[in-house]
Amino acid sequence: MTTRLCTVVGARPQFVKAAAVSRAIATYNKEAGPALAETLIHTGQHYDMNMSDVFFSDLPLPEPAYNLDVGSGSHAFQVAEMIRRLEPVIRTTRPDIVIVHGDTNSTLAGTLAAAQLQVPVAHVEAGLRSYRRDMAEEVNRVVADRLARILFCPSETARANLDREGIHEGVHVVGDVMLDLLVWQRKHLAIEPQSVLGAYSLTPGEYALVTVHRAGTADDPEVVVSIVNALGELARRGLPSLFPVHPRTRQHLPSEAACPGVRLVEPVPFREMLCLEEQAKVVLTDSGGVQKESYWLGVPCVTLRRETEWPETVEMGWNHLVGTDPEKIVEAAAAPRPSGPRPPVYGDGRAADRVVSRLVEWSA
Ligand code: UD1
Repeated sequence: MTTRLCTVVGARPQFVKAAAVSRAIATYNKEAGPALAETLIHTGQHYDMNMSDVFFSDLPLPEPAYNLDVGSGSHAFQVAEMIRRLEPVIRTTRPDIVIVHGDTNSTLAGTLAAAQLQVPVAHVEAGLRSYRRDMAEEVNRVVADRLARILFCPSETARANLDREGIHEGVHVVGDVMLDLLVWQRKHLAIEPQSVLGAYSLTPGEYALVTVHRAGTADDPEVVVSIVNALGELARRGLPSLFPVHPRTRQHLPSEAACPGVRLVEPVPFREMLCLEEQAKVVLTDSGGVQKESYWLGVPCVTLRRETEWPETVEMGWNHLVGTDPEKIVEAAAAPRPSGPRPPVYGDGRAADRVVSRLVEWSA
């Protein structure tokens, strides 16, 4: 019997996570026969070439069978429109399980659309909490975890969070599927650092890599200016930065001419991003995925938030939670390189294989 899976993706980090699972599905089918048939649904939340298309050309992801073309808008618009467009697709494809990833509006819409049609939901990256209900992502995760029947946690901390909320059934700690893809990338998409760094005139180990995209950071002009001021100070102290700019962050950023030593560029493809992270002296970010990737790559991270869903990276000394105060950012970015261990708290790079095994067992 073949189990029909529908995977709902829409935003950049979900392409990375879904690629890890799609690849594991393909491997399983090759070894054990065609047990799983996956249909990929792209909500269209991200649609720019470098926010979406490039991930489909670079990563082991099937072409989406459906693109719902929802695009940008308020949370209410996006989620409502996604549910409206997902419903007929789920009715037509009649999946046995709908898979959602992470915590975006596409995650929430996929979960609600499936749950209302009584299709079991599997949530990959379940159990993460910032305990900040003013973040859209926290609301999305809490709802997804409450409604999902199968919950794949990246860490024991995530399982403990679910435990505290009384969610015990269907919970599996499998590790983090983003690590799977990092391992895959290094094997299959390895890139010569000089070819990437050269394009930006960067020297290995002598620049800071910066990403900012969270609504709480990117939508506040004062916060953006604060971060840019910190980058300016780092540049004056001899540490220039490269800043691939998420579309959301563009609106409040000064021009490059106004930020000497700070290079503003378009979002970069995944494989270039990993290379730029690995070669950086320090990474400054408000992204969850980038915090973990820095940890795995052994590059110190300064998180431009006051809390993190990935507390292990802080406990091990590789991540500093500093918020957006320029002095604290500069101090943390200039701190000596941590020397502590980086134990495998997010698994061994084979999380997606475990996801697939559990899905097969579940549907048997
Ligand atoms: C979304 C997720 C966030 C995730 C992030 C990864 C939600 C609530 N947030 O945030 O959790 O970390 O994706 O990037 O789902 N835009 C473009 N081109 C695009 C996509 C967006 O120009 O391809 C612009 C639009 O002006 C849009 C804005 O970026 O209004 C924000 O996009 P949106 O999809 O609302 O959320 P993100 O900030 O990307």
